[in-house]
Amino acid sequence: MHRRDTRVLRPGHGLPVKTIAREAAEAILAGELVAFPTETVYGLGANVFDRRAVNMLFRVKGRPTDNPLIVHIADVGGAELVAQRIPPYFETLAERFWPGPLTLVIPRNAMVDDAVTAGLPTVAVRVPAHELARAFLGAAGVPVAAPSANVAGGPSPTTAEHVLADLGGRIALVIDGGPCRIGIESTVLDLTRRTPTILRPGGVAAQDIEDTIGVHVAVASGAARRPASPGMKYRHYAPTTPVVLLVPRGSGADMMRRLQRLIRNGRTAGMRVGLLGAREFADLGADAFHPLGSGTPVEYAREMYNGLRALDTAGLDMIIVPGLPSVGLGAAVMNRLRKAAARIVR
Ligand code: TXA
Ligand code: MG
Repeated sequence: MHRRDTRVLRPGHGLPVKTIAREAAEAILAGELVAFPTETVYGLGANVFDRRAVNMLFRVKGRPTDNPLIVHIADVGGAELVAQRIPPYFETLAERFWPGPLTLVIPRNAMVDDAVTAGLPTVAVRVPAHELARAFLGAAGVPVAAPSANVAGGPSPTTAEHVLADLGGRIALVIDGGPCRIGIESTVLDLTRRTPTILRPGGVAAQDIEDTIGVHVAVASGAARRPASPGMKYRHYAPTTPVVLLVPRGSGADMMRRLQRLIRNGRTAGMRVGLLGAREFADLGADAFHPLGSGTPVEYAREMYNGLRALDTAGLDMIIVPGLPSVGLGAAVMNRLRKAAARIVR
């Protein structure tokens, strides 16, 4: 693929959000790819009604064509452009969680290109909660298909620098909105089944969805032989350096000892060992350390991908990550870490 200049637009210094939104909208309507910030991670956008742009998006990302894209809309009304019908619970959930980190899978209409949905009869939609994303989507006036703006298989991007590191020179434009507030992808909820089913845990917890619609919500198992969400079967989020995930067990002191042992064993074997975790683990003797604040699920989500990327450039042989209890946002964090891991230590 030929290289080209990637323009970066950052609000401030005399550049208003409105101008950025208009320029990005012009680019997307001209068939270009535009990376933009959301509250979860940066997305790489293409006009859903432009087959050439959508195909280019799959190529630039190196994404398998059987993994469908999330369609981003400026407001709930945008769903009508891509939906065949609006299923039960859709309006209640949209009202409660949009704009925000919840993606809803609904029946799709014939306007949506097959490439967007990988041929599925459904389409995933969400309204992102980021001022720049909403201004851009509003100005574009078309739904924008956008996967995370990283090279397929690697850690998702939570800053414009991450996007440029992966895709610089291959896309037209990056809107720079600074670091993403949540840092982990949206929850994907399938509303086309009898029981609403979480296909990917994310920024909105299962319990909050149940509390909102008052019915039981199922969680699709990633181990299912035929993955419900095509994205479930691929390796994801992994840096080049092998990640070792330490599943939490016992007391805090136990965890500390298990971590110390893992680090020592690696170093004794002649490896350079990195550690990504709460700042209280800074002095456990790893060759490189990247802090995740005080180690809460919110801090893990916000800093995890940045930390994986940073440690991946530190010349290490492995990156050890202590896990979290799989509840609430912790479940989303662990879902990503399990997929990123080359080895899971229980
Ligand atoms: O937070 C997010 O969701 C970010 C930002 C940019 O919005 N986007 C994102 O996109 O994470 P991506 O492409 O990395 O992940 C999309 C996920 C995949 O697991 C895909 O399989 C699933 O959504 N998906 C998309 N359309 C689907 C459909 N029609 N049925 C089932 N799963 C679908
Ligand atoms: Mg992704």
